[in-house]
Amino acid sequence: MSGDGGEVARAEQAPAPQPLRGRRVCLGVSGSISAYKSVEAARRLEDAGAIVDVALTPSAARFIPPLTFRSLVKGEVAVDLWDPSAPAEQHVAMGRRADAMLVAPASATTIAKLAQGIGDNPVTLTALASSAPLVVAPAMDAVMFAQPSVQANLELLKARGAFIAGPGIGRLASGGQGLGRLLEPVELAAAVRSAIGRSVGELRGRHIIVTAGGTREPIDPVRFVGNRSSGKMGVAVAEAARDQGAAVTLITTQGRPQGGYGIVVREVETALEMQAEIGKAARGAHALVMAAAVADYRPAEASESKLKKQDAEQEGMTLELVENPDVVASIDAAKLLKVGFAAETDDLIRNAQAKVAKKGLAFIVANDVSQSDAGFQVETNRVVMLDANGGVERLPLMHKYDVGWAILDRLRAHRGWA
Ligand code: PMT
Repeated sequence: MSGDGGEVARAEQAPAPQPLRGRRVCLGVSGSISAYKSVEAARRLEDAGAIVDVALTPSAARFIPPLTFRSLVKGEVAVDLWDPSAPAEQHVAMGRRADAMLVAPASATTIAKLAQGIGDNPVTLTALASSAPLVVAPAMDAVMFAQPSVQANLELLKARGAFIAGPGIGRLASGGQGLGRLLEPVELAAAVRSAIGRSVGELRGRHIIVTAGGTREPIDPVRFVGNRSSGKMGVAVAEAARDQGAAVTLITTQGRPQGGYGIVVREVETALEMQAEIGKAARGAHALVMAAAVADYRPAEASESKLKKQDAEQEGMTLELVENPDVVASIDAAKLLKVGFAAETDDLIRNAQAKVAKKGLAFIVANDVSQSDAGFQVETNRVVMLDANGGVERLPLMHKYDVGWAILDRLRAHRGWA
């Protein structure tokens, strides 16, 4: 935004989002059948811009041939502490240059060694040589995971600041179902992003509330008044805030998002539920980014049983609607900066501008939802940011994650930012 009521247009571009650009991640792999997921996690981390170094325990190298990682990552792969062809003190160099270390899968033995400071293989030795944030992703049989010794070691690591990622519940290699599954690669990569954000991100120590999805206002137990919002825009803002180190509360109608590690999720259906959840989270929060599409009206009464089709003689059906509160306008908390979105199909600037003062917003992010590559459901958006002083900033077509990042940049630069 220009700040003086003028208009600013940024050049047309849609770069791929690269939240880990320039970051170095050390992936430590220990022995588990789930080690195949760490291959995919390494790829995801590099797709997000990181350079990944890999350290394998001797057992991990039996599950995944080191050549697999050597062919995949841009960094180095350490397998054998005594390999004469490996660079001298490779573990020290890898540990020192890491912005984060992810141990995935982390077996019970590796967790014990990490907790006790035993460095007898490339993974545990590199962890000892590193002061970067440590993410530990356990994977083992459910009975092993429940052992007091394993739990105590994890508690010890957590108390020292390690991020424990998972495990998840599901089918286990040892048979049956239980708590012990390695998280999916998308969650492992998200845990690394979160850990780096908490260590160096610009929003460390801040709490950001984000809303996502379209509210569903019940007509009866099977039908609702709703809209086309997928929640992607709100989730993208929440991820960008998480990656910058903020504590994030995502209030959404769309369920827990994939890759939502580090984001507190509150699930809601209606505008009134959304309003209540924001109210609970708002105390002490620094910003509310209202990307949700909130229904302006709800059925006056929701029937407790499914409404039946009317008799043939009676034509049509009338649904009585009552107005919902303006949720974003109704929220008031000290220090809280509010950012709205405006979904418009015509006269974008004029319609959006009118909402800034009416809703008490720091600024509004307007999107033309009649475009096929912007607004509802798609991965990209083309937005105009409008502030209370008449400042107008047009951004090019961008991935929604990058729009989220741009919103947070404007928030940090706002004079009301505490
Ligand atoms: O979820 P996606 O598929 O990714 O789509 C993204 C999106 C198009 C939904 C998103 O980019 C967007 O535009 N969200 C706001 C949609 C909307 O409700 O716009 P509005 O112009 O009707 O409302 C303006 C602002 O007031 C919004 O921040 C809205 O959350 C808020 N509002 C609206 C009505 C109401 N009763 N209470 C509110 O707080």
